[in-house]
Amino acid sequence: MKIDESRIRIPAVRRGARTVRVVLAGCGTVGGELVRILHHAADEIRQRHGLHFELVRVLVAHGGRPRPGELDRALLTTDVDAFLAAAAGADVVVEAIGGIDPALRIATEALRGGKRLVTANKALVAAHGPELVALGRRHGGRLDFESAAAGGIPIVRALREPLSLTGITSVRGILNGTTNYVLSRLEDGWSFPDALADTQARGFAEADPSRDLSGEDAADKLRILVWLAFGVEPARLQVRRRGLGDDAERLARTARALDGAVRIVAEAVRTPEGVTASVEPVLVAAGGDLARTRDEANLVVVDSRWNGRIALGGPGAGGGPTASALLSDMVRAARRQRAVHPSSAVPPIPDRRPHAWAVGVERGRGAQEALGHTLARVGINNERMAWTGGTVAARTEPVPWARIGLAVRALESQGLTPAVLRVDADA
Ligand code: HSE
Repeated sequence: MKIDESRIRIPAVRRGARTVRVVLAGCGTVGGELVRILHHAADEIRQRHGLHFELVRVLVAHGGRPRPGELDRALLTTDVDAFLAAAAGADVVVEAIGGIDPALRIATEALRGGKRLVTANKALVAAHGPELVALGRRHGGRLDFESAAAGGIPIVRALREPLSLTGITSVRGILNGTTNYVLSRLEDGWSFPDALADTQARGFAEADPSRDLSGEDAADKLRILVWLAFGVEPARLQVRRRGLGDDAERLARTARALDGAVRIVAEAVRTPEGVTASVEPVLVAAGGDLARTRDEANLVVVDSRWNGRIALGGPGAGGGPTASALLSDMVRAARRQRAVHPSSAVPPIPDRRPHAWAVGVERGRGAQEALGHTLARVGINNERMAWTGGTVAARTEPVPWARIGLAVRALESQGLTPAVLRVDADA
């Protein structure tokens, strides 16, 4: 295709820049990376956006930790009150400290003071998002949280834009980089402890990695996306949640026996009665989009009645992508661009729909018979049985989760430790 170069508009280079005073809570993996980006990308930010972000105070939880060389150490404080005093004179408050305390206090005081607050804190937004948005509205402040769900993927923006994606029927995907990285390493033959240590060393895991492994981190992100997609208050969403634990290697073998891969899939579906939600190990088709999402990548797939399917993939964890998403919110906040919040509510309901399941047990004396007989005893037809390594795995007919729970308890009472994956519709 021939390009008419005279029609290409190159953004004008802006010489003067408006100074935006920024206070930052948190200078760890994400906050530290934001400091580096603000330093090294200052010229680009000035030229593209006409803004100069000036850091005026940085709150840290621990005074003695190493900080980026680009940070003026005179800005550091461990005193929340001193930080809040500085925030009162700032234009944008950035929160990357994580957890609820003191993040909720910082958010509440900033929004009550009419500030523009940008946060990467998924636990905070999942627990308090609607009330914080309402608080900001009442006092002329605003809340942006692109980096709180799916790291560097602009899914929050996509769901918040006015009139985009009307008639959403489901939101699903991979929302936790840590567990996805661990599963990718297990596929490469690593042990679970080695894979977990490596993801922690790379800065993907939460300070408390049990939030990643248990699926709580992904559930928080799902709550945020469901709020934006369906108007369900995030704290009220009922999420069937299972993550990765001692069973991680067994789950991987069970999936391999059935020619698929394991992914921790977060999914919310709008049914006629309400919105169901789950975060759980899912058997996905080898070679499909979910299986091809590896390492710390995330994938978000949104189906809508009018728009069909969109899929956004990219880096879901790590300092760089998360800080980059924070920066995009800071630009938006500094330019006072409008944000839209959903108000219609669809009721959250538990998932009672039938799904096919993969159930794997370690192959030992009588394990195969026990698996077959137990499934039959609780009235679940077994569509396929397969083996790999030391694992025998069954793929069931579609049944609700409660029926699988019966089979799991019956297997456990025989001394077996079953690994259970929901089977993806495409697998
Ligand atoms: N611990 C999170 C993850 C970081 O692994 O996805 C990004 O939110």
